[in-house]
Amino acid sequence: MNKKTVKDMEVKGKKVLVRCDFNVPMDEEKNITDSTRIIAALPTIQYLLENNCAVILCSHLGRPKGEFKPEFSLQPVAKELSKQLGKEVIMAKDVVGEDATSKAKNLQLGQVMLLENVRYHREETDNDPEFSKKLANMAEVYVNDAFGAAHRAHASTAGVTQYLPAVSGFLIEKELQFLGNALNNPERPFVAILGGAKVSDKIGVIDSLLEKVDTLIIGGGMAYTFFKAQGYNVGDSICELDKLDLAKEAMKKAKEKGVKLMLPVDTKIGKEFKPDTESKTVAWTEIPDGWEGFDIGEKTIEMFCDELKTAKTVIWNGPLGLFEFDQFAVGTNAIAKTLAQIEATTIIGGGDSAAAVKKAGLEDKMTHISTGGGASLEFLEGKKLPGIECLMNQ
Ligand code: 3PG
Repeated sequence: MNKKTVKDMEVKGKKVLVRCDFNVPMDEEKNITDSTRIIAALPTIQYLLENNCAVILCSHLGRPKGEFKPEFSLQPVAKELSKQLGKEVIMAKDVVGEDATSKAKNLQLGQVMLLENVRYHREETDNDPEFSKKLANMAEVYVNDAFGAAHRAHASTAGVTQYLPAVSGFLIEKELQFLGNALNNPERPFVAILGGAKVSDKIGVIDSLLEKVDTLIIGGGMAYTFFKAQGYNVGDSICELDKLDLAKEAMKKAKEKGVKLMLPVDTKIGKEFKPDTESKTVAWTEIPDGWEGFDIGEKTIEMFCDELKTAKTVIWNGPLGLFEFDQFAVGTNAIAKTLAQIEATTIIGGGDSAAAVKKAGLEDKMTHISTGGGASLEFLEGKKLPGIECLMNQ
């Protein structure tokens, strides 16, 4: 990475503002149901504490759209973080208001505080300079460790770097190292698996990966747009009729580049969108009307897993079926299990594929699971991430 990290900056005894991505899932009682993103932020926070800094943390949670809504409070994060760090995390009642600014001013070296949800202010997503300045005024150094929000050009991810020396934390460094190495220096064969519902969400990444991979496996809802593009009936399956040309172009590009493009050969279809719906497996060319494709079939699972067994680098983004319903999670689980077994570098894009790996209890068997859903997708598309671009160069 050509960006300075927290190790390249003299932070000893300084007040440091750290942007984290504490956008974590919670249940109705506000219990955090997955604290991966909190745990992933610990190395940077601990390093700063070891270096006798006063640490001011900030993050968004959900999308409160500029309004103070208690259900979007970061209070539960402060509690969990304090448990993880084994020390008090002082919670501010606001973001740049009187409570936060006076707590930040009085924060002692070795103490940690957390500001309220930065998205309580519209100025955050507007990347407002005055709001950025107010955040910056609380500290002497800025560290961005919010990989999951690095694709957002917001005040706390980008704007603030106009007013403070800005470096990356260890999480961003690690994410870029794994994702970047896999993309730019992969051990071959290099296989990408793309799933998810829509071709429109993934066309950028398909296009960019076709320049890099040896094999591109396509599954999930978007496979039906590829089936339709070849003139086949897809029944009631999800299909983007206005994206047929994009699917055709991707197939043409794969041929030109000598990339093996693998599509499902059979599919598990269901009658209705509900967990216990009647289902059966059919060849991909034989989806009847009144049925919807929800998973890849057994022949496809075998074919995809055989391909993966020869791979040396694998990137996976997007589930292969409707994995939220057990009977249609078979394909996604089989891919997760195969990735857990093979001798290869396995990189899981965040979001649903990360959730699927965790649900299968296989997270320890993967080389790297990204903490960024949208951010990792944009990185794989080859886009520049604004939250990283604005950091100081080495
Ligand atoms: C995420 O969960 O992908 C990040 O926290 C970004 O959230 P956002 O899509 O609301 O900006």
